[in-house]
Formats: sequence, C-alpha cells, structure tokens
Amino acid sequence: MAPLDHYDEPGETPYRRHGIPKLGFENYWYPIILNSELGRKPKAVRLLGRDIVLFRDRNKLFALEDRCPHRGVKLSLGHCSYPGSGTISCPYHGWTFEGASGRLLAALMEGPDAAVVRKVEVPHYPVQAHAGLIWLWPGSMTPGNLVDEVPAWIGDQGSFFNISMYTDYRCNWRWLVDNWPQDHHAQYVHRNSPELIFQPQLPYALNLDPQPLEGNKGLAIKRSGGMTGADYPGLGRFPRPEWWRFMKPTGRGATAGFENSKARKVYGIKNQSEIWLPGLTVVGRLSGEYCLIQWAVPIDGETTRCFNINNWRRMGRGREWFARAHYYLFRRWVHDRMFSDQDKALIESTVPGPERLSRTDVGVIAWRKFAGASARRPVGDQPARLDVA
Ligand code: FES
Ligand SMILES: [Fe+2]
Repeated sequence: MAPLDHYDEPGETPYRRHGIPKLGFENYWYPIILNSELGRKPKAVRLLGRDIVLFRDRNKLFALEDRCPHRGVKLSLGHCSYPGSGTISCPYHGWTFEGASGRLLAALMEGPDAAVVRKVEVPHYPVQAHAGLIWLWPGSMTPGNLVDEVPAWIGDQGSFFNISMYTDYRCNWRWLVDNWPQDHHAQYVHRNSPELIFQPQLPYALNLDPQPLEGNKGLAIKRSGGMTGADYPGLGRFPRPEWWRFMKPTGRGATAGFENSKARKVYGIKNQSEIWLPGLTVVGRLSGEYCLIQWAVPIDGETTRCFNINNWRRMGRGREWFARAHYYLFRRWVHDRMFSDQDKALIESTVPGPERLSRTDVGVIAWRKFAGASARRPVGDQPARLDVA
C-alpha cells in the first residue's frame, strides 16, 4: 500500500490541515483514458503516482504495475504474445505475467522448469470499461460497484449516453477541485468566454449554503440572493454596460428558477450543481436533459487529468444525433476547450502558500472540510489532523 499521506508542501497548508492527500484519495474508481485509446498494444498510464500498464485480451481488461520485477523494465513495452491467455510478456527476457493475478506464469528465456515461476507477482489493479472510459481502482480496499459509485448520469447507460474528453493540467489535483465549489470565479473569469459573451452578467455575491448529499457522497452548494452589478466607490461600475449581452443565462449561471425547473419537477433532480468525492463536479441544465461532469484525476503530484464527461438523457435517435452534432460542432470547442482553458491558465499559475480566504470561499472551505473528514480510507489510515477548523 502507498504511504498514507503525501503532503510534501512545507508548513501548514489547508490540505494538510484537512487531511487531503497530495496524491488523491486511493479507494475510489477513477477514469483514466477513453476506451477507444486502448488498442492491441499495451498502454502505459499513470494514476495517483502509480505507473500502470493496461492491456486487453479478447475483450478482457487487465492492469498491472508497469515494472517487471526481474530487472525493472517497463511491461508496457512488452506484448500479449499468447492471445486468449490474458498474459503480458516482458520485452527484456520474456517473463510472462497473468493479468488477472499478476503472477509469473513463465520465464521464457529460462525454460519451462524455471524455479521462479509462480513465486513472483506484480501488483495488479481492478480495471473496468464503462461508458466509453477505462476505470481503475488504485486503492487497497475491495472495490465498490462502479455503476453505484459514480453519478447516475454515468452509471446508468440505459438512460443516458455520454461523450468524454480530457486535458492534462500541470498542477496538483486539489487546485483543480477547488475551482468547482461555487467560488464566484465563473462570473468573473468566464464572462468574456465565447460561450457566455452574449449572456448578461451572471449573479454574483450570492449566499452559499453547502449541504451534504445522501450517503455522504459529496456536497450540494445552494446559492441564493446576489446581484448582477454594483458601483465600487472610487472606481466605477462593474460590469460596464455592454449592449451585446442580450441572451438569457444558461448552464451554470442560470440559478434562477431551479425550484420550478423541468429538471426538478419532471426528473426529480435535487441540485443544479454538486461536488463529489473523490473530486468531481456534476453541473446540470434546468431542462434536466443534459449535465456536465468534470473529474479531477490525480496523475501524480504535479499533473491532473481533467475529464469533461458530457451526458445526455436518452430521448430517441433524432435527439441523440442532434446532441452529438451540436457537441462536436460547437460545445466541444466553446466549452470543453475555450471555457475550460480560461480556468486551466489560472489554476496552473497557482503558487501554493498561505491563503486569505473570504466570503466567496464558503464552498471551498466546506469542500475541503468535507473531503478530509468523509473520504473512504482503510481502517487505521486516518489523517493526522482533523481537529482544525
Ligand atoms: S526485465 Fe523483465 S524479463 Fe527481464
Ligand atoms: Fe471555471
């Protein structure tokens, strides 16, 4: 098992204080690549600092530590030389490992009677393909049922379908998740994004009310009140009047009317946005027919894979075709690239150190406290300090 915590920042940091490890919470399912990216060749991936080789044999997926215990070369450079056996052979001397157990089944250059056979093992990881993605469980606890663990939009592929993409950020995963609990950056940073350029200023200075979700899966951060403009003494008005903002707010900013929305009344969706362990956000539309899930996957301490999983309710072939066309022609660029890149540039520029938190950070503070206290951990693997506010 990996060390309990991986706090290597000097001094007190909010993450150390709340027990949020640098390399992420281990005992959860994480998406790691698109299913379509794994072909016949084994593929090297990294997750929570672990180097892992993924391979597929006759539609079965396997995940082993990407290091041959013989002399340490990467198994991902090897081959699946015996189709149907679920094995991978090391490229150096042909040690051949069973994917399901990690056991050494043959040392090809040593002959069939090699004494090391069945005495050596490579760590193996639970792995699964679901919803067009490949998922890994990096922890030491018994994996939960993936379909039950992820939001229903991803879990229930009979009712929903999705299109996913990802981008790697040069930052720790915690900075990316801190971007999601409604800290009012969206109203400022994204006001000039192509997606929102024709929409009026979104309400800010809202009251934030973080509430735990059922089953301690995460938080809903409810918003109320707010304003869309004000005079700042000695400076002037924000925002300045802009005649081209003639559209109605949509998406994350359209808080008004959620109580009476179709999402709530017809589909029974309780919250317009949620943040879940181990580090993802679920943002719905008022129609209840689309939602975006963004998932911060810790690759290592300095890299985070940000998945954008776009989900639609299945409503017939025509609607599905339209959703796919709209996504590939418009939304993929204006949201998943341009809008998200506005965040990426800022998050990657973060310099860790003391913070001076303020009223807009109610959600961030609630998330950090919640995540540190509620994340699933093996017995005895408790964070050192949860006693600090
Ligand atoms: S290093 Fe893998 S078989 Fe020798
Ligand atoms: Fe953002």
